Amino acid sequence: MKTKLLIAALCALLGSNVSVFAAGNAAAGKDKSAMCMGCHGADGNSPADAFPSLAGQHADYLVKQMADFKAATHRNDPTMLGMVAALSAQDMEDLAAFYASQTGKAGMADEKQVALGKAIYRGGNISSGVPACMGCHSPSGAGNPGAKFPSLKGQHAKYTAKQLRDFRDNNRKNDAGKMMRNVALRMTNEEIEAVAQFIAGLK
Ligand code: HEC
Ligand code: HEC
Repeated sequence: MKTKLLIAALCALLGSNVSVFAAGNAAAGKDKSAMCMGCHGADGNSPADAFPSLAGQHADYLVKQMADFKAATHRNDPTMLGMVAALSAQDMEDLAAFYASQTGKAGMADEKQVALGKAIYRGGNISSGVPACMGCHSPSGAGNPGAKFPSLKGQHAKYTAKQLRDFRDNNRKNDAGKMMRNVALRMTNEEIEAVAQFIAGLK
């Protein structure tokens, strides 16, 4: 009885966001990441542009994506479904803590596309109603963990462009309040490619 009261008091103290799982343990996550390394890199900087880098991404965002792949209702990817199928909630927390603790490397932007990409990222497209990306993802591309806006900086352009097309085509639907679908549906292919290049070069 005493223990129950203590737990109830602790939960009240920590607020309603308290999770039943212990916070992620980065060292445990590193041990569990062996099966992820081939695609996402040993330190979360992925060697191939079809695979997103995970290094330095916010832990909560990473946990959400793993859980979404596992649920396979709003974000579907056959490869990732197979990878997360056997993960427990604690595994996801540990893996996320590990990748969040790593340092992301800046990528390379295609200089020819950077001017348009920068204009979209910083100012959006007023005539078609695309909002400025930096309003949510921050001027540096580091995002805003408190508001659940992921970090984008240094990400492979090919991956970023695919996500924007997936949001636009309603293939990725795990954005709260359709925040990203409402952005992407107003974007042309040229704008998607250009902003993805600009983002790859953000440090
Ligand atoms: C065979 C290659 C492969 C392996 C192995 C793999 N992944 Fe992935 N991962 C992908 C691909 C491809 C995507 C992008 C899917 C898409 O297009 O939406 C992805 C996406 C992700 C994302 C979403 C990133 C973001 O920015 O939204 C997370 C998180 C992730 N993987 C974690 C893991 C973890 C943890 C493991 C190991 C348990 C793992 N992956 C193993 C290929 C792989
Ligand atoms: C109103 C806020 C908002 C604006 C404006 C916004 N985003 Fe997002 N974006 C989000 C949220 C929220 C998510 C996370 C969705 C989720 O939980 O999976 C996201 C996710 C993304 C992702 C997926 C990241 C990954 O690792 O898979 C990309 C890429 C992205 N945004 C690019 C952009 C670009 C480019 C723009 C500008 C054209 C933009 N965003 C404008 C809120 C916003």
